[in-house]
Amino acid sequence: MTIQENASLKELNTFGIPAKARYLAHITSTEALDVLTKNPLFSSVKHLILGGGSNILFTKDYDGLIIKVDINGKTILEETESDVLISVGAGENWHQFVLYCISHGWGGLENLSLIPGSVGAAPIQNIGAYGVEIEKSVEYVEGIDLTTGESRRLTHPECRFGYRESVFKHDLHEKFFISSVTLRLTKKNHRLDIHYGAIKEVLERNKIAHPGIKEISDAVIDIRRSKLPDPSVIGNAGSFFKNPTVNAEFARVLQQGHPSMPVYPVDNQYVKIPAGWLIEQCGWKGKKSGRVGVHERQALVLVNFGDGNGEEILQLATEIQDSVKKKFGVTLMTEVNII
Ligand code: FAD
Ligand code: EPU
Repeated sequence: MTIQENASLKELNTFGIPAKARYLAHITSTEALDVLTKNPLFSSVKHLILGGGSNILFTKDYDGLIIKVDINGKTILEETESDVLISVGAGENWHQFVLYCISHGWGGLENLSLIPGSVGAAPIQNIGAYGVEIEKSVEYVEGIDLTTGESRRLTHPECRFGYRESVFKHDLHEKFFISSVTLRLTKKNHRLDIHYGAIKEVLERNKIAHPGIKEISDAVIDIRRSKLPDPSVIGNAGSFFKNPTVNAEFARVLQQGHPSMPVYPVDNQYVKIPAGWLIEQCGWKGKKSGRVGVHERQALVLVNFGDGNGEEILQLATEIQDSVKKKFGVTLMTEVNII
């Protein structure tokens, strides 16, 4: 393993921010991580784990060690007539893994097609799309506690999954290196989820009355391509903010002044308001601010038109947060990790 100095991160983050790392190490195995953590450099500088860089914003150069996760491999641990238990290396590409599962007829991840990034980062914010979150299929997550050097397995309940949440964003934040994720996938009697409006529409339009996992994956890919910008064409990190969860009574009062405001029930007490709607209502959709801006088809996605830097994106994000707070009294929390 070599440690690069003054390494460019431009190709390692989907915003395409031209930040630099003081040190950068590509880790291809847990043994290599062990060697790295015993290197005196490891304890002398701060460190940051990096997967596909699709949920991160570098606002300046990183004055520490970036640990790029490149651990690959897939191992079937158990297989029965009805399901398969598979352990996947943290560095595998998420979407390629979803396609691999679909080609084998394994169900559970089809709604999560085309989400960028690595397998290892997927449980961190419990990736979700079109009515499904990865937690539905996670059996356990394995990795190394960077404070003790010990290997650890976290079972599903120990991961404390929530909406864009897990223990990895709290107690274990920046302390735990995820090396693999173990998922249980169905081989038959798939638990298909097609209640999301946009999926239904695509299936109806394509006259597919009895979709399987492949048809659902194709529909999700279609929808995503029509709404979300491709990071290889225009820099972005997907939704920049989370959809705010607010008290249902607060939302009801807001709706009196804004009858078109959509709300989605969370439980008896809380509802979610789409942040994209709030941002659009504040006039931001499609707005350019120098070299960065708000996507024209999805107001929740901030974009880098090419030469923008992280500070410019952050400045824009702050202005958006301020205007949403002023107009609606709602605080938008970032989904993207700001570094
Ligand atoms: P990175 O951006 O590299 O890292 C994210 C965080 O995880 C950082 O804090 C990093 O330090 C930490 N981390 C990464 N790998 C590890 C590891 N192995 N161990 C410990 N910590 C680690 N997300 C959704 O949930 N749903 C969507 O529909 C969705 N759509 C998207 C669409 C686009 C166009 C884009 C660009 C992003 C989208 N995202 C979506 C966000 C993003 O793809 C996910 O959050 C993804 O899981 C991030 O993976 P990554 O490997 O790129 O993580
Ligand atoms: N909306 C607007 N204007 C916009 C965008 C959205 O009014 O510019 C409103 C519309 O009412 C629309 C609703 O928001 O019906 C929901 O929009 P959409 O279906 O596009 O989903 P979202 O809530 O904006 C969430 C996730 C996405 C995920 C999609 C599909 C969050 C923060 N974002 O977006 O995840 O792909 O649902 O399930 O929960 C990500 O996390 O990076 C991400 C892209």
